[in-house]
Amino acid sequence: MRTIRLAPGADLAGFRAAARRLAAEGVPPEAAAFTTADAPGLFAAPPEAEAPPLALPKPVAALIPAVVPHRDPERYALLYGLVWRALHGERHLLEVASDPLVHRLLRMRKAVGRDLHKMHAFLRFRRVPGQGEGQGEGEGQGRGQGQEPRERFAAWFEPDHHILAAAAPFFVERFPAFDWSILTPEASAHWDGAALRLGPPGRREDVPATDSFEAGWCAYYASTFNPARLNPTAMRAEMPKKYWRNLPETAAIPDLVRAARPRVAAMIEREPALPQKRVPARALAAMAAQEPASLDALNAIIRRSEPLVPGATQAVLGEGPLGAAIAFVGEQPGDQEDRQGRPFVGPAGQLLTRALEAAGIERPAAYLTNAVKHFKFEERGRRRIHQKPTAGEVAHYRWWLDRELGFVRPRLVVGLGATAVLALTGQTIPITRARGPARFAGKPYTGFITVHPSYLLRLPDGAKDAAYTAFVDDLRRVRALAEETAA
Ligand code: URA
Repeated sequence: MRTIRLAPGADLAGFRAAARRLAAEGVPPEAAAFTTADAPGLFAAPPEAEAPPLALPKPVAALIPAVVPHRDPERYALLYGLVWRALHGERHLLEVASDPLVHRLLRMRKAVGRDLHKMHAFLRFRRVPGQGEGQGEGEGQGRGQGQEPRERFAAWFEPDHHILAAAAPFFVERFPAFDWSILTPEASAHWDGAALRLGPPGRREDVPATDSFEAGWCAYYASTFNPARLNPTAMRAEMPKKYWRNLPETAAIPDLVRAARPRVAAMIEREPALPQKRVPARALAAMAAQEPASLDALNAIIRRSEPLVPGATQAVLGEGPLGAAIAFVGEQPGDQEDRQGRPFVGPAGQLLTRALEAAGIERPAAYLTNAVKHFKFEERGRRRIHQKPTAGEVAHYRWWLDRELGFVRPRLVVGLGATAVLALTGQTIPITRARGPARFAGKPYTGFITVHPSYLLRLPDGAKDAAYTAFVDDLRRVRALAEETAA
């Protein structure tokens, strides 16, 4: 009997190397035993020399990484059984769903997939106090990397399976702009803006119990809660109670549930003309993370949401036709936008409108929106002074912006200033260096980076004209690019 010792957790590299060696030596599954070492070397490399890769059918090769994170101690033996059979004449084995081995492995893949989904949906970062707070200066000035402390966040999560390494890249994609750590009872993952590192187990106590995001999550959750759809059974199925204690918004659940009946009664009383159709029961949790099916549905969510930082009169939604060739993304609504509920209508917006006209772009044919949908300001006497959103706030709104642009489907997206570019790319990019056409990784549209119009307003008089001319030149290039991409 050959005994293969693998590292604890999801030791994909170790299993691959072992399967190659065993298969090369002709060791059948019944003569191989897999154990996991108790020693911590969680992601240790396999100790023996590598054998050549196996010529596996694609579906078999794809199933291996999807099953390795499963907690079942027999997973490696089962997978090696599959590999062996696929290499010995059963190349289409995975198509036989009734085969007991296939059936079991597919169920394991499903369980891992479900666990990944729960982690993506229910993990909540909390700000680590004292790190990266209080930033914010003029828009469009391009902050060099490393010139300011990055915000730092931490999250605690208890997955059912060994999925941390598989789940972490999702959070890199979603929250690239701040440093974060995810702690679990068996391992941890750490992102510093450049590299993802896996490390030893964490402790729940190492994650702050609460933070300033909490109010935002709770308000968002309460604002998207529709009491007429309350279905506690579906709610528990979608969001098992074990996840509740990590979720700030669940603090709101008991009150929301208690208030649901009277709220429904009040709604019916207020709106007797409401169609009394049965609304399909939906999980409360799914509402918090709801995936809108249209721009209108997304806008309804944004409109009902509370600002992360209290004060704004209303959410300012994007404006322009679906299918607009060009979308312009600014930073956040200003004082006038907040009062009127429309983007780019204040002084910076008027300057942008003039520049668009000079460049031959019709404003009504373009789509205009902002990275952050609420005005953040500080009151000084009767004036409301614009405050730059933090990277964490931009990250909070980023999901909406992605969905919004997904519905509008522009061919070209113009990031106006550093905050917009951060929202579009997840990166802090100095505008002066990156100005011009840009590739935004993973996006279906062409990117373009230029300054924010409010930057032009702040320049000393002697510098304004040249900067305005350069801005109009940029917009002319934007127009030409949009025409090219249409061809
Ligand atoms: N600045 C922005 O970024 N957006 C607006 O809507 C107005 C000013």
